[in-house]
Amino acid sequence: MRKILINGGNFLYGNVEISGMKNAALPVIYATILANDVCILENIPTVSDVTLSLEILTDMGAKVRRINSTSVEIDTSCLAPVTPSADLVSRIRASTYLLGACLGRFGKAAVPYPGGCDIGPRPLNFHMEAFKKLGADVSNDNGMFTADAPDGLRGSMISLEIPSVGATVNSILAAVFASGTTIIHNAAREPHIIDLAGFLNNCGADIRGAGTNVIKVVGVKSLHGTSYKILPDMIEAGTYMVAAAACGGMVNICSVVPKHLEAISARLIDMGVGVEAGGDRITVTSNGFLKATDIKTGFYPGFPTDMHPQFAVLLAMAKGVSTITDSVFDNRFKYADQLEKMNANVKVSGNTAIFVGCDLKAAPVVAPDLRAGAALVIAGLAADGVTEISNVELIERGYVNIINKLRALGADIVMRVEPDAVATPSVG
Ligand code: EPZ
Repeated sequence: MRKILINGGNFLYGNVEISGMKNAALPVIYATILANDVCILENIPTVSDVTLSLEILTDMGAKVRRINSTSVEIDTSCLAPVTPSADLVSRIRASTYLLGACLGRFGKAAVPYPGGCDIGPRPLNFHMEAFKKLGADVSNDNGMFTADAPDGLRGSMISLEIPSVGATVNSILAAVFASGTTIIHNAAREPHIIDLAGFLNNCGADIRGAGTNVIKVVGVKSLHGTSYKILPDMIEAGTYMVAAAACGGMVNICSVVPKHLEAISARLIDMGVGVEAGGDRITVTSNGFLKATDIKTGFYPGFPTDMHPQFAVLLAMAKGVSTITDSVFDNRFKYADQLEKMNANVKVSGNTAIFVGCDLKAAPVVAPDLRAGAALVIAGLAADGVTEISNVELIERGYVNIINKLRALGADIVMRVEPDAVATPSVG
């Protein structure tokens, strides 16, 4: 069993290098299925969601070669339309993208139910409706999602009820080879969508409007391999910005796109934190004093739901009463019980958490999901005493080298490996 131990209270100073964006790398990894060729992907983060996705492609016959810690070569020319292992697929949400990629390339797809952070219902109805619009027969039973278009896919008008990231990704993947033109209305505008379109257009696709809420995909006959570099991770960057705000000090967040972080920067400035952007760097300066505020998450470019738990730590410490409302996921509040163990005064009512700011105190806590786990790391960095965090695997799903990156900034943090409890043989 591994646990993160943090002796809190240190100010943070120095530079932190941001890795490639997990949620941009994942769609592109599955999109290599459409290339049916060799692709080289750069700035790929070494996080478990990525490792697992590469394992799934290998399981289906792709040839995957790690070139170095941030680059990977993927040859999908031998990948077959087989059903991947449910054990692998059920561990992450991104395996959902197999549906769009396999339906697009092979005209059929059968994928066991995907997994993902337990932050609320994670249905795929918008995805399946999009596939139906493109001419596929879809089903969802016996623990399997299937889509089948024996007569091929036809370009269509897809209007998403909400700008779902996953449904936008899967609509693009399925539309690349569809005959005719597909228009996706109310598309997600996240930078990950821009990266996906950029990669596919480098492979010969014809996708316009990525980053806006209307995306046009003109069907092509085939794609070819390419090399592509993934954008920096805006949520990893935001997490370190919040850590600097919570602990006090001055931290340069390097290799970022400041425009992607505007909503995060604006809220930190509201709370009295210094934020200054320049080139591919953002500098966060804080004396540890935080003003109360009210936050509402929304779809990009609104305040990202993936930054909700991290900001909850700041609201728990800010002088006065603060609230955060999550309009994207219903169950993003599992950090609240854990922060209460650290002396936080937080009450969850519906999809809003209400905080009365106070000083946090170290305690043993359990990471309930990826971003709430990152939030508990931030809380431990700011709290007096030694905080112990278990379920560290959830944090490693989305953060490259978080221990070393924080230690380089002056945090007193280690990973402790404890012998797993040995099952005592029952007597008799
Ligand atoms: C992606 O999840 C991200 N995951 C999530 O990040 C992120 O929180 C989310 O987008 C929103 O930005 C990956 O990219 C792997 P959605 P996704 O479809 O695609 C509802 C992290 O921490 N919905 O935009 O699953 C859904 O329930 C993870 O890195 C339907 O109702 O999110 C949610 O309430 C956590 N039907 C809302 O839409 C559908 O068919 C937004 O979900 C699809 C979604």
